[in-house]
Amino acid sequence: MKPKGSKNSFTAQALNVMSIKLPSLSVNEGMARAAVAAFCAQLDPRPVEIADIKCAVSEAVTNCIVHGYKNTVGIIYITVKLCEGGIVRIDIRDKGCGIDDVKQARMPLYTTDAENERSGMGFTVMESFCDKVRVYSKCGKGTTVTLFKRLQGK
Ligand SMILES: Nc1ncnc2c1ncn2[C@@H]1O[C@H](COP(=O)(O)OP(=O)(O)OP(=O)(O)O)[C@@H](O)[C@H]1O
Ligand SMILES: [Mg+2]
Repeated sequence: MKPKGSKNSFTAQALNVMSIKLPSLSVNEGMARAAVAAFCAQLDPRPVEIADIKCAVSEAVTNCIVHGYKNTVGIIYITVKLCEGGIVRIDIRDKGCGIDDVKQARMPLYTTDAENERSGMGFTVMESFCDKVRVYSKCGKGTTVTLFKRLQGK
């Protein structure tokens, strides 16, 4: 295993994995958040760490529902990997419209949905509650957001 803090410390081996898929209904946002938190509980995280994970998952799943599958219903794919060194990796994927310019989308206050009073802060929230956020997207194909969180003292 790579030492903590090294460049590749987020590539640690998975010890346990959960995959779920849910239709992009807003009622499933809470379900996704709760399921991820329940699975992570086996690592005995601090309450604040669980709150951070729930918040970041909530933002990513909401984005699948309101942007990726806007005006349609598709499937949201969530995979959680619990890795060596207390690292949690969460992949949240949709096969929706995709993002034209990921760099721009990740900027604080950038939104394509101001008419619905979105604030453009979802990616910023994910970044502040996680150790690393990766976004891969292709127009017309979909988006994958990967959240990494290292649990303290594990
Ligand atoms: N899964 C996705 N599919 C397509 N576009 C997305 C997706 N996630 C984000 N985006 C695009 O990136 C922009 C920024 O997302 P972000 O979550 O930061 O803000 P927001 O969703 O617009 O507002 P907020 O999250 O504060 O309610 C969105 O307005 C949207 O254009
Ligand atoms: Mg958002």
